[in-house]
Amino acid sequence: MGLQLQTQRLVLREFAYEDWPAVHAYASDPEVTRYMSWGPNDEAASQGFVKTVIAQQGKLPRTAYDLAITLKINGQLIGGCGIYRRRLQEGEMGYCLHRAYWNKGYVTEAATALLEFAFSQEGFHRIYATCDPRNLGSARVMEKSGMRREGHMKEHLYKDGQWRDSLLYAILDWEWRAPRE
Ligand SMILES: CC(C)(COP(=O)(O)OP(=O)(O)OC[C@H]1O[C@@H](n2cnc3c(N)ncnc32)[C@H](O)[C@@H]1OP(=O)(O)O)[C@@H](O)C(=O)NCCC(=O)NCCS
Repeated sequence: MGLQLQTQRLVLREFAYEDWPAVHAYASDPEVTRYMSWGPNDEAASQGFVKTVIAQQGKLPRTAYDLAITLKINGQLIGGCGIYRRRLQEGEMGYCLHRAYWNKGYVTEAATALLEFAFSQEGFHRIYATCDPRNLGSARVMEKSGMRREGHMKEHLYKDGQWRDSLLYAILDWEWRAPRE
């Protein structure tokens, strides 16, 4: 069955090839991909994404943990999230949600489950994530997930003929386990 994480309202599960139209529904939306390094996708790019992700599922040791964000109530695929091993115990987290589901706390719920999985089950020491400084929703997700802002990287990402800044957020395993207010 592969990896599956449950939260109160979500099931984070492995992608299957049949998921590509649901992926395309958000990955082709320029509003969704505005601050991403990729997109908006054409159909071939969304199919290619799903194929690449499926090829990573069987790799040992696993370096890319891409999971579909689905609603527990009806199984609908509403986004994607993942942890990517960059070094032995360091991972990068990413996420993306269909626009119709923004601002309902879903990605914070998914990110919290991913961090718990990374630290408790996979032995990561540090997880970081970046976002465009204009992407206030993404920065807020990282803050709500307990991540600390570590820096502002100037002209970190080149997209559509422009250099873009990124904010860097991170959390360590012992910070994740520390009691929170
Ligand atoms: C960014 C994104 C992941 C957030 O997911 P989400 O499920 O809507 O996030 P949540 O509902 O858990 O939290 C969003 C928070 O940001 C806040 N927020 C959203 N837009 C905001 C804005 N324009 N200004 C200020 N705060 C904003 C919300 O109010 C909420 O905070 P609160 O709970 O304190 O009120 C989602 O909008 C998305 O997928 N965007 C497109 C892809 C993307 O940018 N991915 C991240 C790349 S780094």
